[in-house]
Amino acid sequence: MNNIKNMVKKSGTSFFWSMRLLPNAKRNAMYTIYAFFRHIDDIVDGNAPLEEKQELIRMALAAREKAYAPYSNFMVGAALRAKDGRIYTGCNVENASFTPTSCAERTALFKAVADGVTEFTDIAVVGSRRGEVNEQITSPCGVCRQALFEFGGPELNVIMAKTPEDFIERSMDELLPFGFGPSNVAGNAAVEK
Ligand code: THU
Repeated sequence: MNNIKNMVKKSGTSFFWSMRLLPNAKRNAMYTIYAFFRHIDDIVDGNAPLEEKQELIRMALAAREKAYAPYSNFMVGAALRAKDGRIYTGCNVENASFTPTSCAERTALFKAVADGVTEFTDIAVVGSRRGEVNEQITSPCGVCRQALFEFGGPELNVIMAKTPEDFIERSMDELLPFGFGPSNVAGNAAVEK
């Protein structure tokens, strides 16, 4: 059982991408098997994932302090966990010309990619107006969803937090259904009907 569990866990995003090549019926069956083993994995791991998520949120909150947001005064922080465990943080970086502004999520993502890291498991996002405690959930904007989908695929877990104790999470597949990614360009993406 452990061998199968580890195989499923390690295969991660590549599993999802390769499943897109299969016909719908076979793919759905494979997803069911995958979900079953992932569920077992969650039970076996106990509370460890929660602590990891809270650590990611704390790092996003610290990154938010660095936000350069003199125009909107809306400060955002993000922390992106790579498959190898490394964490990349980012903040929003605004510009007098507005358009060049980078969101916190893309700042973190591009730092990682520039460092040669391109596979990710989770991203934590926090945002609120300058001087306010984190009272609201900030979800990634459409541009950031697209940028994250390129590397995280549908499986990337997006944690939207007020505090380390108060957060919601959704998969990238939920935030960007029918996302356009590398397999579409390669011409081998299967589309659900
Ligand atoms: N912002 C982010 O950094 N991430 C998001 O997902 C939403 C928006 C930033 C961009 C801009 O600097 C400010 O928040 C207001 O839109």
